[in-house]
Amino acid sequence: MNKETRHLAMAGVVLGLFIAGIVVARQVLTPDSFGQFGYYRGDNVAEWDGLPTTFAETAQCSGCHSSNYTKWSGSAHAGVSCENCHGPVLPVLRSRSRCGS
Ligand code: HEC
Ligand code: HEC
Repeated sequence: MNKETRHLAMAGVVLGLFIAGIVVARQVLTPDSFGQFGYYRGDNVAEWDGLPTTFAETAQCSGCHSSNYTKWSGSAHAGVSCENCHGPVLPVLRSRSRCGS
């Protein structure tokens, strides 16, 4: 084996190791659920689904706070949701037995 061939062979081995490293890293680092539904981690769906809902919606406030709702509807803040100012209300509503669930 002359010098050039030896250098080429070494370069080939280095390239081979590099590619093998990428293949192994891809196997090890790719989450199991990747590709389950598409080009993203499938578990992500369940994780978001597991987050507690904290915001109700403005329509729900009107049932109990009709005067505030009417005042708000005609105000300059009509485009701002009630909970933007008052914070998430759903946990409060759920914790009140008199309001049902
Ligand atoms: C099922 C009825 C009900 C719904 C729906 C409801 N509330 Fe209330 N809310 C109440 C009652 C009753 C009180 C006052 C009694 C208390 O503090 O326990 C109150 C109190 C409040 C207060 C405090 C008032 C004060 O004087 O300090 C705010 C602010 C408020 N609600 C905002 C909201 C917003 C915003 C929503 C919609 C996301 C909402 N509420 C939905 C029944 C409701
Ligand atoms: C731009 C911010 C903002 C938005 C949007 C807003 N509020 Fe308020 N709200 C306030 C502030 C500030 C107070 C206390 C000052 C006052 O009493 O005028 C208040 C007071 C209240 C109170 C206490 C009782 C009262 O009449 O004083 C209730 C209940 C309430 N808001 C419900 C609502 C509901 C329901 C909505 C949506 C339909 C809403 N608010 C939207 C800022 C906001």
